[in-house]
Amino acid sequence: MVNYGVMMQETLRQQPSYILTPLTAIPSREFETARLRFRALQHGDGQLLFDLYANDVNTCRYMSFKVDGKVETSEGFVRLVVDSFAGRHNGKAMFSWLLQLKETGEYIGSAGFEASDETKVTGGYILNPKFWGVGYATEAWKRLLEVAQSDPGVHRIEAHHHPENPVSGKVMRAAGMAYAGMRTKCAVYPNISDEKADDVVYAWNRTE
Ligand SMILES: CC(C)(COP(=O)(O)OP(=O)(O)OC[C@H]1O[C@@H](n2cnc3c(N)ncnc32)[C@H](O)[C@@H]1OP(=O)(O)O)[C@@H](O)C(=O)NCCC(=O)NCCS
Repeated sequence: MVNYGVMMQETLRQQPSYILTPLTAIPSREFETARLRFRALQHGDGQLLFDLYANDVNTCRYMSFKVDGKVETSEGFVRLVVDSFAGRHNGKAMFSWLLQLKETGEYIGSAGFEASDETKVTGGYILNPKFWGVGYATEAWKRLLEVAQSDPGVHRIEAHHHPENPVSGKVMRAAGMAYAGMRTKCAVYPNISDEKADDVVYAWNRTE
């Protein structure tokens, strides 16, 4: 039987910028949940990300990227994602999807995961505040966990949040992750401070 996972890993290996990632295949570009459609970021989405959240320091307070008022920064992120979906990346494979309401067609935010070491992927999500509090992040993150878990190379999925952002921990728990401890002074949240801060870790581990 042809093992497509191994074939894809070989394809990734042949890329000039190949760095080990646990993924044996590039994730799907499109999928959905009951209320949401996921669409992989594509060239031209930078302005949309900028308008949805990336230019708002309050929405991005607990994110790991700095709000700098430049649409080019969002475009740069989109480029990394587009390259990762094309099998090219430079140490970090970044997969991110726009989240769209099926009912109205509105874009509400984005969610994704990055693969930067041999066994684990690390995820995150961010919504425009207009859409907070009605379960969209939990619905989206649950689905993304399934996507990552369906790749046999992924043995651990992590997500981290700032201790003052417990809502994000609720999303992780509600989606099926378990509390995995606190990391001391190892994460920078640049919209708060350039000093290293503690962060809270949630994880899913493959047990079989
Ligand atoms: C964190 C974030 C994605 C949550 O999105 P969301 O769609 O509002 O989350 P959900 O509606 O799925 O709610 C998850 C839980 O948090 C609770 N919650 C949501 N907003 C809340 C609020 N403002 N205050 C208190 N609880 C809240 C919900 O009741 C739910 O709890 P439950 O599981 O006990 O019912 C959203 O607030 C956001 O985009 N924040 C900015 C970016 C960010 O911090 N991302 C995470 C970085 S680690």
